[in-house]
Parts: sequence; structure tokens; C-alpha cells
Amino acid sequence: MSAGFHARAAANIAFLKYWGAIDLDRVVPANASLSMTLSVCASTCWIGSPGGNEDEILRHDGVSFVAAEGSFRSRIAAHLDRLRSRFGVDRPLRVLTRNAFPAAAGLASSASGFCALSAAAAAALGHPAEGAALSELARRSGSGSAARSAFGGFVRWPAGDVDPEGAAPDDSELPAAPVTPANHWDLADVIAIVDDGPKTVSSLDGHRRAVTSPHFRARLEAMPDRMRRAVDAVRARELDALGPLIEADAIELHAVAMTSSPPIHYWRPATVAVLERVRALRETGVPAWATMDAGPNVHVIAPHDRSGAIAQALAGVDGVQRVIEDRVGGPPVVREGSPAGWPA
Ligand code: DP6
Repeated sequence: MSAGFHARAAANIAFLKYWGAIDLDRVVPANASLSMTLSVCASTCWIGSPGGNEDEILRHDGVSFVAAEGSFRSRIAAHLDRLRSRFGVDRPLRVLTRNAFPAAAGLASSASGFCALSAAAAAALGHPAEGAALSELARRSGSGSAARSAFGGFVRWPAGDVDPEGAAPDDSELPAAPVTPANHWDLADVIAIVDDGPKTVSSLDGHRRAVTSPHFRARLEAMPDRMRRAVDAVRARELDALGPLIEADAIELHAVAMTSSPPIHYWRPATVAVLERVRALRETGVPAWATMDAGPNVHVIAPHDRSGAIAQALAGVDGVQRVIEDRVGGPPVVREGSPAGWPA
């Protein structure tokens, strides 16, 4: 049995978000997106050889590794098949995957999970991949945001700005690319958890329904200009310029979701209470800006040295269950062998 390879990849928080696709099977987004790779919220995946001829897929349940089941297992199995056929290697694999997300974070883990899985599998199948090559493999998992976790720091995933009824660009145009590395700007993501349950409607369904919203096209049209301004603000480290773009984009995504058919309401009352708290913080001079993914939890982007005070303020909002302090982080790391203490 080989020692295999393990990879650790972090989640990312989108400043300008992927919402709606030109081609969901090929994961071609309708708009470009921009994100910050995190450091605490991450996944680790080890891939080696199983005892028999079948794939073995285990996930960590917080106590120990258990057999993965249901759609979680089938999405991983489908991605292994995709990677084997891509590399022309036909052999069974043993997969152990674990999220380092703080318990009950209520956060999506597919971006970090599929990026770590892609990096570990590529190495285990003899085709190690990083950067653009890893981004392309991770994107193919179906979790488009995983394409951005292939890099650290601030990352742009292009392929957008294309008419959703027009032709999809070539795959070669699709990998995400770094805008600036993590050490460029020490930003925090202070996450107010208002609901730690699973998503009510998956992002996949959200992408599908987005085109039915009368506001979808308006958001797409605003995106190229918003992207240019956001990238400039990241390069110049200007949070006062970036913040309003982040908040506007998240609120527009949710406006699209709420006006899709059938509508999707991700927000909870506490989501609004946190948004109001963030605005009140700004009025007292704290540079903090909010964003929400396909769920009710609020991510607050701020300079890292303000993280502790912001976390304390958010913890006091009615309905906030807990607060996680994360910050900008580096690219995935791949190593031979299994992580210390794993039953590989
Ligand atoms: C709202 O299709 O990447 O987070 O597979 O659940 O991670 P998952 O979703 P994906 O869509 C991401 C939607 C988003 C915005 C974003 O991260 O760009």
C-alpha cells in the first residue's frame, strides 16, 4: 500500500459572487467572481490505495472517520471518476476527508473540500497539479467556487462578462488566477453564525433559478464595472472603496435569489440584525463591510487588527449563535503520506 498524498485547502469568501451559470454541467459561470482565500476554515484530504478493488470514501464526523454516504459520497465518487478518466489512470482509491471548520460553523465546505480532494487525487494519480491546473480540476467538481481555493490571497475567477445566451468560452479561459498574494493585505473575515443547519436550497439550485429573476440581467450588467473597481481597490488596499462594492453585490445576489422562481429566502431575522450592527459599527468609524453566501450567516470583512472588537460586537447581537474569526490565507499545501494521527 502506498503512502499516498494529502492536501489542505482553505475555503474562500467571495467579495463579488458567482451566481448563475451559462453552462452548469461544465461549470461556466455567467459572471466573473472575486474572493479572498481564508486560513482557519479549511479541509484536509488524504488519498491512497484501498485494501480491495473498490473505492473507499470516509469522512470525519468530529470524533472519527466514518463511511461517507448519500449525495456527499456520490459527489466525491463522481469527481474521482472524472479525475481518473482525465489522467487515464484506472485504479481504486481510498479517500479520507476532514473539515477543520470550527464545529457547527454552518458554513459551506465544498470549495475547500473539493479543492483539497482534487489536489490530493491528482498527486496520488501521478499528475500533481497546482495553480491554474488545480483550479481547473477543482472547478470540474461542480463546486465552481472551489476553482478559487486553488490560490491563496485574493483571487479572480474570470469567464464571466459573457452574454448568458451566448457561447460559453473555451475551458482554457476558465481557471481562476491570483490578483495579489495573501501577504498583500491582512484582512479578516469575522463570521457571525445565525444558523448552523444545512442550506435550505443548494447553490446549484440557486444558480439554476437565478436566470428567472427579473434582476439577474441588471446584476450581470453591473458586474464588469464592479469587478474593475473591486480589483483596483484590492490592489490599492482601499477598504473604503472595496467595502460598498462587497455589500452591494451580496445584497443584489440575495435580491436575485428572493425574486427567482420559486423564490429563495436565505436570510433570517438575525441576518438583518447583524447587517444593521455592521452599519452602526461603521458609523462609529470601524471599517467593516458585510457579505452573505447562499445562507443566512454574515461574513464581516475588516482589517485584521479590528477582528477581535468586531467579533465581540457581533456576539452581542440577538440571534447570533457564535462568531468565528478567520483571515486571509495561503494556497493549498500538498504533502506525501498521511497527516499525523490519521488512520490512513
Ligand atoms: C453564493 O456552486 O461554488 O457561495 O458548491 O455550494 O460551494 P458550493 O457552491 P458554488 O456556488 C457558490 C455560490 C456563492 C458565491 C460564491 O462563492 O461565489
